Amino acid sequence: MKDTYIRETLAVKVSHVFPPDTNNHHTLFGGKLMSYIDDIASISAMRHSRSPVVTASTDSVDFLAPIRTDESVCLESCVTWTGTSSMEVFVKVLAENLITGQRTIAATAFLTFVAVNDEGRSVPVANVIPETEEEKYLHETAKDRVEARKRRKQASQELANFIHKNKPWE
Ligand SMILES: CC(C)(COP(=O)(O)OP(=O)(O)OC[C@H]1O[C@@H](n2cnc3c(N)ncnc32)[C@H](O)[C@@H]1OP(=O)(O)O)[C@@H](O)C(=O)NCCC(=O)NCCS
Repeated sequence: MKDTYIRETLAVKVSHVFPPDTNNHHTLFGGKLMSYIDDIASISAMRHSRSPVVTASTDSVDFLAPIRTDESVCLESCVTWTGTSSMEVFVKVLAENLITGQRTIAATAFLTFVAVNDEGRSVPVANVIPETEEEKYLHETAKDRVEARKRRKQASQELANFIHKNKPWE
């Protein structure tokens, strides 16, 4: 298995923001943006693993600024770190005013994907190699996020064991 440069996992998507995708504040609906994020992140994960992938977790999505109907939305994603079969993907979302050219970081997100085989079992992936300052920062800071993710998964499992499965009216 050959290590790949982070740039080789890069995916980019640019769209107009049209009224059907906005909320009553005339800004891009959060659920729509989350769907864009999951979609582009899975492309980066597949570009790296060259296998089917599943979303193991959406670790964080931070909405930093609204994206308005007179702007375009640009998403960039890449694999920033890999475990044995898991891949951390970072997504950067920019809003661009197409008249003035002003660009704003509108959101950032980290997701984890797992490479799987046709039976849905996890399979190993290669490492990624950072080159730019931003890639090196994301790669070096990944270890802390991995630890936080492990703690959160444990807490989620404990919660899932505790909550009931009854119908709400029972
Ligand atoms: C993700 C999934 C394949 C992991 O299965 P599993 O039995 O825990 O598999 P493993 O124990 O072999 O773990 C595989 C990797 O997933 C990682 N992982 C599992 N759950 C995770 C989570 N919630 N967050 C981050 N990573 C996770 C493990 O750390 C491990 O990483 P590594 O190989 O780099 O060490 C399984 O939980 C699954 O299929 N979930 C549903 C996925 C899905 O349907 N996604 C779409 C949602 S709409």
